[in-house]
Amino acid sequence: MLKIQDLNVFYGSIQALHGLSFEVPVGKIVTLVGANGAGKSTVLRTISGLNRPTTGSIQFEGKEISGLPPHRIVERGLAHVPEGRMIFLNLSVHENLKMGAYRRRDRTHLSEDQEYIYSIFPRIAERLTQQAGTLSGGEQQMLAIGRAIMSGAKMFMLDEPSLGIAPILVETIFQRLVELNERRGSTILLVEQNANLALQVSHLACVLESGRLTLSGKSAELSENSQVRKAYLGH
Ligand SMILES: Nc1ncnc2c1ncn2[C@@H]1O[C@H](COP(=O)(O)OP(=O)(O)OP(=O)(O)O)[C@@H](O)[C@H]1O
Ligand SMILES: [Mg+2]
Repeated sequence: MLKIQDLNVFYGSIQALHGLSFEVPVGKIVTLVGANGAGKSTVLRTISGLNRPTTGSIQFEGKEISGLPPHRIVERGLAHVPEGRMIFLNLSVHENLKMGAYRRRDRTHLSEDQEYIYSIFPRIAERLTQQAGTLSGGEQQMLAIGRAIMSGAKMFMLDEPSLGIAPILVETIFQRLVELNERRGSTILLVEQNANLALQVSHLACVLESGRLTLSGKSAELSENSQVRKAYLGH
């Protein structure tokens, strides 16, 4: 579904990604594991058009998307739920969801998607008129995922969905992501500080160190890898 080849990204004179290549197969959940500063968010930001790669190729469904502006990439069906969630704090929950569908062209399944969001996140359905800035951290994360679903995306990229959220809600959110994948066939690229959890829910994983891919494979196998266990799983 997504194919990254030899991606090089710089911030000024500092190189954040070094010749990065990996793939996200259709219908899979892929986790990017890496320490703080490894370049995980940079990968997502580059794929979604917020950063420009110096060289390299990013293909989504067989078509080159690098160099396209972010809204064009969303229109193709690739949604980014960024670190810090970036919802509109002054707008209501319902208005935030509507904003997600703003650029959606095919609106035939819009109300179906809305009902789906309410079914997986009943808390959101109960708070439609509430100002988004007054939602709890976990509820804001649910709203951000809901907004991405409203865009009609086939693939979702999530940056640290568990950040600053109570463990019980983290569990709910991850269950919903798995559901999104299993029931709707959505492809997911996940960046997550909680590597234990991320490796449990994903099919495949890539390990990023200082902007370079150092390991990749099935998540179940990487969870057993002694290097990974020592560096990322706290064993
Ligand atoms: N706008 C920027 N300008 C300059 N350097 C940046 C910028 N954004 C990120 N960097 C640098 O690029 C490197 C990768 O950052 P990135 O945010 O992608 O890491 P990360 O893996 O997401 O880290 P974290 O786990 O802390 O979120 C870091 O060294 C960071 O300081
Ligand atoms: Mg990050």
